Amino acid sequence: MCTEPHPIAAEAYAATIHTNLGDPHLFETTAEIERECIEWMAETLLDHPAPEEAVGHIVSGGTEANVLAAYAAREATGGDEIVVPETRHFSFEKAARMLGMKLVEVPTDDEYRVDVDALQDAITDRTALIVAIAGTTETGSVDDVEAVADVAEDHGIPLHVDAAFGGFTIPFLRSKYPLPRIGFDLEPVVSVTVDPHKMGLVPPPAGGLIFRDDEFPSLIEVKAPYLSGGGTTQFTITGTRPGAPAVAFKAMIETLGEEWYERVAFRCYEETLKARDIAVELGLEPAVDPPHLNLLNVRLPDEETAETVLLEAEREGWKVSISERPLGVRIVMMPHLSADSVEPFLEFLRDVLEN
Ligand SMILES: Cc1ncc(COP(=O)(O)O)c(C=O)c1O
Repeated sequence: MCTEPHPIAAEAYAATIHTNLGDPHLFETTAEIERECIEWMAETLLDHPAPEEAVGHIVSGGTEANVLAAYAAREATGGDEIVVPETRHFSFEKAARMLGMKLVEVPTDDEYRVDVDALQDAITDRTALIVAIAGTTETGSVDDVEAVADVAEDHGIPLHVDAAFGGFTIPFLRSKYPLPRIGFDLEPVVSVTVDPHKMGLVPPPAGGLIFRDDEFPSLIEVKAPYLSGGGTTQFTITGTRPGAPAVAFKAMIETLGEEWYERVAFRCYEETLKARDIAVELGLEPAVDPPHLNLLNVRLPDEETAETVLLEAEREGWKVSISERPLGVRIVMMPHLSADSVEPFLEFLRDVLEN
């Protein structure tokens, strides 16, 4: 889900490799830049009614963002259960283990979207947080976040949206394709993970965690007294944090802008639809048809075939990603790929499956 850095991002990154966002008083300008990145995501991607109130950071990745969201919800509600779709990223397993919380997994439908009735039934008086996924890791499926928000609202439970993958594409694709709202215009949404180092195309490490306001993060912040200026607080897991990803991101926003991100979103998705057509013509079966986002998952019949695909692909020089649920091959259509460039791989898959 990452790609080659844009030259503008690479230049900004290289110029600021010495910066440390863990010490915002010493790196005041970098901290201001990070603040602007958070506000841009809150406003442009997440429909925040008052983006200046959003609080967040460019963190080490979607994992840190999800762990922090669960932590803040635990502190805010006193609950110890996280209700997640069974398609959740493994970062929620890390969160649950680290935080001493229980992961309550909810089944999904035939397009790997959370079953909203089952989600409703999974809520108890110990639920701290409901999670909806806007772009699952294995199939790129997008939960009906609006329906999940209704459930969260009925029960008065905070909702976290894991849009680590889909956060940079859904807000644009929604104008043409049937995708839900995923942001702060949905009342129960308290936090969102959106990773600039995935479809934001920023060099890693650039995860993104955005809270609606300071209510939840203030519950998990600690004082960092020895840092310059005194009075600094932090709620990130890491103390010293690189400023270069934030600066690279800001450079991309400034020079390439929202329209560029919109073009990338459409191109990657439409190339995915073309690749889907090629796959179907070759007799392959997309796990989600049509794919919700720029991820084509091609089903594999059994573990043995999956092993063969891995072995044969290695021999051809391809590094292949196999998903477990469903058993399939993940093709993430990043900007450095196209339907044409993945066609030989699809033909290779057809050959392996036929033999
Ligand atoms: C939906 C989702 N959430 C969270 C993560 C974790 O992100 P990271 O690898 O940046 O920690 C991923 C990674 O692929 C993801 O797909």
